[in-house]
Amino acid sequence: MLICHCNLITQKEIEEVIVELLEQDPWTLIVPAKVYHTLQKRGRCCGCFPNVVETIIRVTESYHSCSEASEGDVVSHLDRVRELRVQYGSRTHERRKAGHRAA
Ligand code: FES
Repeated sequence: MLICHCNLITQKEIEEVIVELLEQDPWTLIVPAKVYHTLQKRGRCCGCFPNVVETIIRVTESYHSCSEASEGDVVSHLDRVRELRVQYGSRTHERRKAGHRAA
């Protein structure tokens, strides 16, 4: 599935980069810019960033659910990762203002 239409990046490519970054450092805070930098791409309209954030959260949760780290450390780290929703918006938000209407 295509996540970024500007750069033609698929969900699978983004998931692979996230796992690669987590294998380098499991406690790194992955943000969309880090994913795009690794792919040697740049955010253009950045409309895909909320979906990228949701992918980062999902893959990071899945990655750490299999780790042997202490539960407290994992919960603390995942809280930091979930805070990205505040910074980049959620999947349903997609940079639209509350009063946005399509028609
Ligand atoms: S859709 Fe990803 S930068 Fe525009």
